[in-house]
Amino acid sequence: MDTLETLKPDILKKIEEADSLTVLDDIRVAVLGKKGTLTEMMKTLGQLPPEERKMAGQTLNLVKTEIGDALDAKKKALEEKELEQRLATESVDVTLPIRPQQQGRIHPIAQVMEEMLTIFAQMGFELAEGPDIEDDFHCFEALNFPHDHPARQMQATFFMQDGDGLILRTHTSPVQIRTMEKKQPPIRIVAPGRVYRCDYDMTHTPMFHQIEGLVIDKETNMGHLKGVLVDFMKRFFEVDDVPMRFRPSFFPFTEPSAEVDIGCSRENGEFKIEAGKGWMEVLGCGMVHPNVIKNSGLDPNEYQGFAFGFGVDRFAMLKYGIPDLRSFFDADMRWIKHYGFLPLDVPTVTSGLSLNGGQKR
Ligand code: DAH
Repeated sequence: MDTLETLKPDILKKIEEADSLTVLDDIRVAVLGKKGTLTEMMKTLGQLPPEERKMAGQTLNLVKTEIGDALDAKKKALEEKELEQRLATESVDVTLPIRPQQQGRIHPIAQVMEEMLTIFAQMGFELAEGPDIEDDFHCFEALNFPHDHPARQMQATFFMQDGDGLILRTHTSPVQIRTMEKKQPPIRIVAPGRVYRCDYDMTHTPMFHQIEGLVIDKETNMGHLKGVLVDFMKRFFEVDDVPMRFRPSFFPFTEPSAEVDIGCSRENGEFKIEAGKGWMEVLGCGMVHPNVIKNSGLDPNEYQGFAFGFGVDRFAMLKYGIPDLRSFFDADMRWIKHYGFLPLDVPTVTSGLSLNGGQKR
């Protein structure tokens, strides 16, 4: 065991001097591995006479523990050093100013979407999604559209070529069906997205944006619907008294149905929220038709609810006084600089939706 006495300080010194985890691991293998020095010594114990064997065994085990501890301690130290080095190289100086020459702006539609979803999220609505390319069942059939309904005809719907009856969705209402198919009530969702119709003039573009809302529960009623919408308008337009009217209407998927108009005036083409001047239609809503609930696989005798569909682009026109819907899609840098928002001014309900970011264009 004399060799052990000289070997030990030598190994401990090597451990102390190891400057990387790989070097340290090589030492471990050379000493404690299957063919390591100490392991080989352990194997020779059997050849010693019994009285020597006990002592030698004990000494060997002590040394093994000591070396094991030294290896562990060094490993920890090296790992800490490595982490510190990494943190030092990956650090970011948060005190640096943002690039003043930054040109990018958030598009008013993206901003308004965020504002709207922020309000709904705070009311307890979950986010839901559906595909832009839809099938007839989800877009029309399940939503209780009669077979000869004009919305199914060429002038409104874009059909996919060789698409096996696939279409570009004409509204976000199919997300109602997709949600009820996979979720059990209570359901409270909002589904934002792009929709497509073959239409083009000052207030219509072939692609525009909607936010669909759906609430399904056992005792949901029209009063709840009205409460949600009135509350939403106050928060969105950031005024306590938004002129609003519920007008009876018709949608195949709701009964009764209503359309909501916002009181506004129009000067030099720009819209402004104002009572007594005129009205702009901004959304459709109603109590979900029992057939729709049935078509989605739920029991209309047990569940009922309400739905609404917002025209996001119109909300943007109204809130930010944008005169022509078509300019949203012109990709004109002068326009986006004027109407766009700074990327770091994210709308939140606590710090302000638009008063914060919206005015600092
Ligand atoms: N999907 C309708 C449209 O695009 C809007 C709508 C009306 C949605 C009534 C609804 C609703 O959820 O209940 O014209």
